[in-house]
Amino acid sequence: MFTHTHNNDSHTTADEVIRCEKLTKRYADGDILAVDRLDLSVYHGEIFGLLGPNGAGKTTTVGMLTTLVIPTGGKAVVASIDVVAQPALVKQVIGVVAQTNNLDRSLTVWENLYYHGRFFGMNAKEARAAADESLVRFRLAERAKADVMAISGGMAKRLMVARALLHHPSVLFLDEPTAGLDPQARIALWEILEKLHAEGQTILLTTHYMEEADSLCDRLAIMDHGRILAMDTPKNLKESVAADTIVTVSASGDLDALARLLQERVEGATKSQRLDTTIQLHVKGATGVLPRVVTVAEQGGYNITDLSIAEPTLETVFINLTGKELRD
Ligand SMILES: Nc1ncnc2c1ncn2[C@@H]1O[C@H](COP(=O)(O)OP(=O)(O)OP(=O)(O)O)[C@@H](O)[C@H]1O
Ligand SMILES: [Mg+2]
Repeated sequence: MFTHTHNNDSHTTADEVIRCEKLTKRYADGDILAVDRLDLSVYHGEIFGLLGPNGAGKTTTVGMLTTLVIPTGGKAVVASIDVVAQPALVKQVIGVVAQTNNLDRSLTVWENLYYHGRFFGMNAKEARAAADESLVRFRLAERAKADVMAISGGMAKRLMVARALLHHPSVLFLDEPTAGLDPQARIALWEILEKLHAEGQTILLTTHYMEEADSLCDRLAIMDHGRILAMDTPKNLKESVAADTIVTVSASGDLDALARLLQERVEGATKSQRLDTTIQLHVKGATGVLPRVVTVAEQGGYNITDLSIAEPTLETVFINLTGKELRD
């Protein structure tokens, strides 16, 4: 649907489901700039990711897009509706899966869905049918009558996704969907999100797991300190690193000097970076890199304690942009 508002600056294009323009949030009387002039668009059918470390501003961004946090600057439009001007309307067309378990503890699994349907305007029969169908779809039917405090973390997350989708939102928001889940529950949730994606559901998720962003997202924005540092497909972001091999070196001694030495002496080295306790060496188009690294280090009098080799990841991209690791 093509729509535009009276203001020329805020038009949304046909398949733009989310649009932020200089979206900003300051907390604590302006002392904390949590989100700093964010510009981004999410298109129909995309899984879009906000990837960033603790405190990057991911939850605040989702909060503003889902009307829980009031922006202090800029604007945001979701499904052609201005989030500040018409928050109640926006709530009708979004589904939100919060980072923490916010299921209603006084209700059973089934009742959490049923009353959500009623709250969104379904009559009793419609809500019953929607809840029944949703439980089957999300493999929760066996626990329909269970207390929500009695189900596993993975199930609770699935129930939160089921609930968020019950009223067929234009866009599904998930804040750190797999934080705290065990690996098996994480994979199960990834499968659910991939299935929703295949069905054309627009999804915006936040994560600080680069593997999650890499495997799920069509496009992502790398965030730090409230700002977007890069935004593209995972593939393009990784290709933006001018290297095909990343060597991580742990050694004793002066790591800054070793980093310089490796960059000078290892064939194909394009860059070296000293992190907290390791060195990352970027290498392009060279073979036999590891023996060369060992030789150069030994000749320089260094004792290598650990050495590994990998292709560039989103972590590499993050380190390139910020000089620090994504995980702390
Ligand atoms: N209600 C609040 N009042 C004051 N400051 C806040 C509030 N909520 C968040 N902040 C601050 O805003 C910044 C961004 O926080 P936010 O929770 O959006 O980051 P995040 O990327 O979601 O981090 P995390 O990975 O820890 O969930 C941080 O500096 C945080 O301390
Ligand atoms: Mg958060």
